[in-house]
Amino acid sequence: MTVKNICCIGAGYVGGPTMAVIAKKNPQINVNIVDINQERIDAWNSKDLSKLPVYEPGLADIVRDCRGINLFFSTKIDEAINTAEMIFISVNTPTKTYGKGKGMAADLKYVELCSRKIAEVAKTDKIVVEKSTLPVRTAEAIKSILHNTGNGINFHILSNPEFLAEGTAVQDLLNPDRVLIGGESKEAIESLSKVYGSWVSEDRILTTNLWSSELSKLTANAFLAQRVSSINAISELCEHTEANVNEVAKAIGMDSRIGPKFLKASVGFGGSCFQKDILNLVYIAKSYGLKEVADYWEQVVIMNDHQKRRFSDNLIKTLYNTVSGKKIAMLGWAFKKDTNDTRESAAIYVADHLLNEQANIAVYDPQVFEQKVLNDLNYLNTRTERENAEGIYSASTPYEAMKGAHAIAIMTEWDEFKDYDWQRIYDNMKKPAFVFDGRSLLDKEKMNKIGFEYYSIGQ
Ligand code: UDX
Ligand code: ADP
Repeated sequence: MTVKNICCIGAGYVGGPTMAVIAKKNPQINVNIVDINQERIDAWNSKDLSKLPVYEPGLADIVRDCRGINLFFSTKIDEAINTAEMIFISVNTPTKTYGKGKGMAADLKYVELCSRKIAEVAKTDKIVVEKSTLPVRTAEAIKSILHNTGNGINFHILSNPEFLAEGTAVQDLLNPDRVLIGGESKEAIESLSKVYGSWVSEDRILTTNLWSSELSKLTANAFLAQRVSSINAISELCEHTEANVNEVAKAIGMDSRIGPKFLKASVGFGGSCFQKDILNLVYIAKSYGLKEVADYWEQVVIMNDHQKRRFSDNLIKTLYNTVSGKKIAMLGWAFKKDTNDTRESAAIYVADHLLNEQANIAVYDPQVFEQKVLNDLNYLNTRTERENAEGIYSASTPYEAMKGAHAIAIMTEWDEFKDYDWQRIYDNMKKPAFVFDGRSLLDKEKMNKIGFEYYSIGQ
């Protein structure tokens, strides 16, 4: 099947950048991204490219080049489904917050709604590609819905998991380590391979069966998260010995069998994928009665929760066991640099803990603004919206956030934090001036020389 029109349902952090790159590299294909969220679609269509709903280096340039030419954003879902030969499902699959599997299993209601929608409106054969991160055997559910509720049309289901990391999404898409396509229909696999083949060499396009493809995505994220939890576990040991976690990471990373990536000790991993995917894995293992497998992977998440908690406990303890009424400046709210995504960001949990201790928090993040900060905290349901709004605010400049603060907590590794005038910041803070660097971002010697009481993870 030659693909001339692609529809992507879900204009989020995955759908947006992925489709933008597909459109850029396939000028012969029309790419329609649709979403139920009108506000989000309006933001994708906004003239001012700094207002796009997803901040990713390099993304705005591609949107500027392709939008209105072969890349379109709209809420006309039925129309886009009908015109397309290939449909990507790229909707969110959060962890369930209710019922069976609460706090563990993925909530597939949005995926199911999409499948039902496709079945309802499709009039010609379609290739349906699952792009959202999903538990193993979801394709089976999609297939069943399409085949049982469709109008006798042929649907070919493919799994094409996303491996892009936020903050480097465009680069990851342009130059992927591999593209994974799982499926049963050779023709459908070939059609999708062709789309990627416009810029990805053949040896990097890997095809497997549906289940291997789905499980590979969960496994890749579980392995990556496991490395972070492993080095974070060592960071705690370092703090009790004379070892330095950065030196240990360098020393082990030079072993080619281990490798240097994902060994950066931190305040804890965040993001929409790691925790969710591991919990998915744990849930699936449990559902097959594989207790040891489930416990093994769950420990990665337990370690991560411990690391976040340890960070705020340490801050409180150092500030003479109380932060009540003290101003704490948080630098960074996003779960990593170069993104405006805050899902599962360590900052949310650290702030929640500090607010429980009655701290007054001022946040500064170059890409995350007050409403998002408040939404993230409100979502936890720990206290009322009003209490959150009274305890935390977003400062419009970093210097304002840190002025008069008792302590600074660095939550995200934004490059610009390194270049601040740290002498000026020190002069304007309460003394002793404490810095808790959750990302080992700043130079310890330089900070100590200025006069800061500087604490960094694993040192
Ligand atoms: C991840 C996977 O990398 C990607 O392949 C998949 O498609 C989606 O999930 P993402 O969550 O966007 O991507 O970011 P990633 O770079 O993996 O970072 C995840 C978290 O781990 C961040 O909070 C990051 O700060 C943290 N991290 C990462 C560390 O604390 N230390 C490290 O060494 C690496
Ligand atoms: P991801 O990181 O997986 O891309 P996001 O939450 O950023 O997750 O994006 C998912 C998008 O999917 C949201 O913009 C949401 O409005 C959209 N969405 C969810 N359900 C549907 C649906 N049934 N039809 C169309 N769009 C949907």
